[in-house]
Amino acid sequence: MTTSPQSPLTVLVIGTGGREHALARALAHDPTVAAVHAAPGNPGMAEVAELHDVDALSGEAVADLAVELGADLVVVGPEGPLVAGVADAVTARGIACFGPSGAAARLEGSKAFAKEVMEAAGVPTATAYACTTPEQVAAALDEFGPPYVVKDDGLAAGKGVVVTEDRQEAVDHAAGCERVVIEEYLDGPEVSLFAITDGRTVYPLQPAQDFKRISDGDQGPNTGGMGAYTPLPWAPEGLVQEVLDTVLQPTVDEMAARGTPFAGLLYAGLALTSRGTRVVEFNARFGDPETQPLMALLDSPLAPLLLGAATGTLADVPPPSWKPGAAVAVVLASKGYPASATSGAVIDGIDRAEQLDGVHVIQAGTARSGDDLVTAGGRVLAVIGTGPDVAAAREAAYAGVGTVEFEGVQHRTDIAAGI
Ligand code: AMP
Ligand code: GLY
Repeated sequence: MTTSPQSPLTVLVIGTGGREHALARALAHDPTVAAVHAAPGNPGMAEVAELHDVDALSGEAVADLAVELGADLVVVGPEGPLVAGVADAVTARGIACFGPSGAAARLEGSKAFAKEVMEAAGVPTATAYACTTPEQVAAALDEFGPPYVVKDDGLAAGKGVVVTEDRQEAVDHAAGCERVVIEEYLDGPEVSLFAITDGRTVYPLQPAQDFKRISDGDQGPNTGGMGAYTPLPWAPEGLVQEVLDTVLQPTVDEMAARGTPFAGLLYAGLALTSRGTRVVEFNARFGDPETQPLMALLDSPLAPLLLGAATGTLADVPPPSWKPGAAVAVVLASKGYPASATSGAVIDGIDRAEQLDGVHVIQAGTARSGDDLVTAGGRVLAVIGTGPDVAAAREAAYAGVGTVEFEGVQHRTDIAAGI
């Protein structure tokens, strides 16, 4: 790579969601960054980056745009482009790209592959069977008993998983998948622990927690995530080191040994069960919405970490440091989400929210319609509150939520409650 870390960087962020807005905002505040571009982006990102059109699933299109912009670093946000090999196409042009190769992104792209890697690396996870016939499904369901955990083997944006006491619902979900993973139920609280890695050196971020179900009290169907907070004051001491030693480093080492090194963001979704820490899932990219509160508290400049990961030089970059205090993100979703999503509702009050102390708004499913900002997707935006502790950050976030309006808005009222 020809980039000199001393010269201010031109960075291109690929994606349209809240995660990408949070990353672009952090990059825009980074003194080592000269210019932030985003494609396709969203109206919130337009405030911190110059937007461009691109087919994010086309490696050649993304690489062409990166060349045209003179980008020193491309940051690929979502899993779709990563699994499609966009990072491979960008690096093939000699441009540093944060995000794993298509081969390494299979850690997220195939749950069966992730299980195989975990087994080879000795990483603790739920026992699971990959099934392709109704007979295999029935046998696996009977072996584990309820609650049943049935996962579509392919990419499903966090919505391909059904956890249910109802055997028929489990059978029906399995029948709708080409290949399905059925696994042991994991009890205990969930933790999202992310690590930035160049395929060798692994820097964990602060643990966060995500709220995946649509309704208060963790009721209703799974979503992409309805809220998140960081840090976790209740997390056992030594959790990050334990996960680094037993999950993150062994997985990164196993991927390197296979000749498909994983460089980028390794997302470990963990369950702290009564029998110990277990991996629920791996993702190959920053989590959404966990990235929103994490970026609010990141103290180190983001670009050197991402560039170090992209160029195999992460060990030369200091590990990430964090601002004191806490951050809470509350997602506002449109009517019908997660089953469907309405669009075109006028969004009002983001400016009022951002006038509040310690509050900012990260956009996702939004669009411009004339002078209006309107909804354009399931998860519309997230209100982020920061404060000296989780309770204060939560109060700030919900004060902001109270000022934002659009028709049919849904949000949870219990994000980070009682922490
Ligand atoms: P995944 O896409 O694998 O992360 O699954 C989405 C969500 O389903 C997880 O965040 C959990 O809330 C739940 N889930 C997945 N696997 C299990 C499991 N083995 N036991 C209990 N809950 C699970
Ligand atoms: N917040 C869950 C995810 O990003 O997959």
